[in-house]
Amino acid sequence: MNPAHQGSTDTTEADVGRVRIFDTTLRDGEQAPGFSMDRRAKLRMAHALEELGVDIIEAGFPQASPDDFAAVAEIARSLKAPTVAALARCMPDDIDSAGRALEGARHSRIHLFLSTSPLHREHKLGKSKQEVIDIAATAIRRAKALAHEVEFSAEDALRTEPDYLAEIFSVAVEAGASVLNAPDTVGYVTPFEITEMFNYLRKHVRGADSVMFSSHCHDDLGMAVANTLAAVTAGARQVECTINGIGERAGNAALEEVVMALHTRRALYKVDTGIQTRRLFPTSRLLAEVTGQPVPRNKAIVGDNAFAHESGIHQHGMLKHRGTYEIMTPQDVGAKTSLVLGKHSGRHALRQRLAELDHELDDAALDAVFERFKALADRQRSVTNDDLEALMGAYEDDT
Ligand code: KIV
Ligand code: ZN
Repeated sequence: MNPAHQGSTDTTEADVGRVRIFDTTLRDGEQAPGFSMDRRAKLRMAHALEELGVDIIEAGFPQASPDDFAAVAEIARSLKAPTVAALARCMPDDIDSAGRALEGARHSRIHLFLSTSPLHREHKLGKSKQEVIDIAATAIRRAKALAHEVEFSAEDALRTEPDYLAEIFSVAVEAGASVLNAPDTVGYVTPFEITEMFNYLRKHVRGADSVMFSSHCHDDLGMAVANTLAAVTAGARQVECTINGIGERAGNAALEEVVMALHTRRALYKVDTGIQTRRLFPTSRLLAEVTGQPVPRNKAIVGDNAFAHESGIHQHGMLKHRGTYEIMTPQDVGAKTSLVLGKHSGRHALRQRLAELDHELDDAALDAVFERFKALADRQRSVTNDDLEALMGAYEDDT
């Protein structure tokens, strides 16, 4: 990271903690309409995620289909560094199937989930508070015998009574869960509220110091990344996210956004991740390729416009000092800056691009070419190098 792009950097290394990145592109991401991946696509993505440096890869939901079972098993066998997780409901068949799919993993995790909010308890499960606790405890004990570790997710946690959530999490710790995930399943909360919930849980869950708290935020109100970062400030040390933010409905917290926020504002958050940030752009593009879903142009970090500058004022600033309009370098995320020539561009950018194309112009010639360039830019969205060569050819013929 170029320090010129950062603000305050007064962090002593002793202050800096570590946040685990749990990638669920192949499970929650894949569940969303338009993003399903077959076994081969999942395996390609899993290898890319391993290279990216994610700590945990949720490879799928083995009980969902034979192909998903096979995908999880193949990923479990072939990955070396990351923990491989498989999702399971708190049901014996789901748990056993997740355990079997993970058998070949160097490090395995069964990820159990069960609804805890009043709405879900009443309308989805039809169970009392105590019944839900008992189901969770029994499932965790069963899963513990089949994987290296167990994560327990309280589905719709952020709409659950805090004291009840603390109680079910306490029982989950006693039963053997080592990661407690509090998902904002419906993308409902605000950063302030999620901070309060994580602070409360860390204070009231029995055995809180021996486990890791995890956040899992959905983007229904466009706050998944902000909420994830807020959870980190309140002690979450695992964050669940997906490449390009794909996932149920409006999606999950986007991995590249969470990681670059933590990285760019390291002095504020005081945590590191193990992500090779230069792999973010290629991994994002691989997902677009295997799902056939293009990345929106204006997507933060990995969209085509994330490091593109067209307006004359911005281009002028960029040519003088990149930090004027970029808070991270495109190289940090494996992308490239582009000064796009269009109707908003100014003389400075045009002069520079023409010089790159070996056309050195004096001021009078630049004025004349600039006028022609503006007329062309008004007729079309952007002006390419080929357009400029044609424009220069016509200008030279006329003078
Ligand atoms: O959003 C959610 O609650 C989930 C759980 C299965 C963790 O995806
Ligand atoms: Zn989810």
